[in-house]
Amino acid sequence: MGNNAMRAGLTGWITALGLPLLVVACGINVAQGRGVYERNCVQCHGDTGLGDGPFADKLLKPPTDLTVLARNNGGTFPAMYVTEIIDGHSRSEDFSGAMPEFGPGLGGEELQLGPLVDYLETLQR
Ligand code: HEC
Repeated sequence: MGNNAMRAGLTGWITALGLPLLVVACGINVAQGRGVYERNCVQCHGDTGLGDGPFADKLLKPPTDLTVLARNNGGTFPAMYVTEIIDGHSRSEDFSGAMPEFGPGLGGEELQLGPLVDYLETLQR
C-alpha cells in the first residue's frame, strides 16, 4: 500500500470515528444542561421553558418565555446575553429581583453555565 493510500485510509477512519464521538459529546453537554435547568430554573420558567413553572403565578413579574429568545433576537440565539442574564452580569435596573444570580451558585460549579446555555438553545422554537 502506498503512503497516500494509507493516509487516505487513516483520514477515513478518523472521520468515521470522530464524527459520532462529537455528536455524543454534544448530547452529553445538553443532557448536563438539562439537569442544571431542572435543578435551578423549572420552578419559575417551567418544564419546557414557557414561563409556566409552579412559582410563576406567585411572582410580581412573570418569568420570561425562554423558548422565544432566538425569535426575539432576529432568529439568532443570544448566547452571550443569556449567559450574562443568568450569572447576573448584565441585568437592567428594572430586572425582576425574583430571579437569583446564578454565577457561582450553579451547584457550586461555574462550568455548568455553558451546558445550561447550550440546553436553552435547544428549547428555541
Ligand atoms: C424565582 C424565579 C426564577 C428562577 C428560579 C429563575 N428565573 Fe429566570 N426569570 C425570572 C423572572 C421573573 C424573569 C423576568 C425578569 C424581568 O424581565 O425583569 C426571568 C428572566 C430570565 C431571562 C431573561 C430573558 C430575557 O429575554 O431578558 C433568562 C435568560 C432567564 N430568566 C433564565 C433563567 C435560567 C437559565 C434559570 C435557572 C438557572 C432561571 N432563569 C431561574 C424568574 C426566575
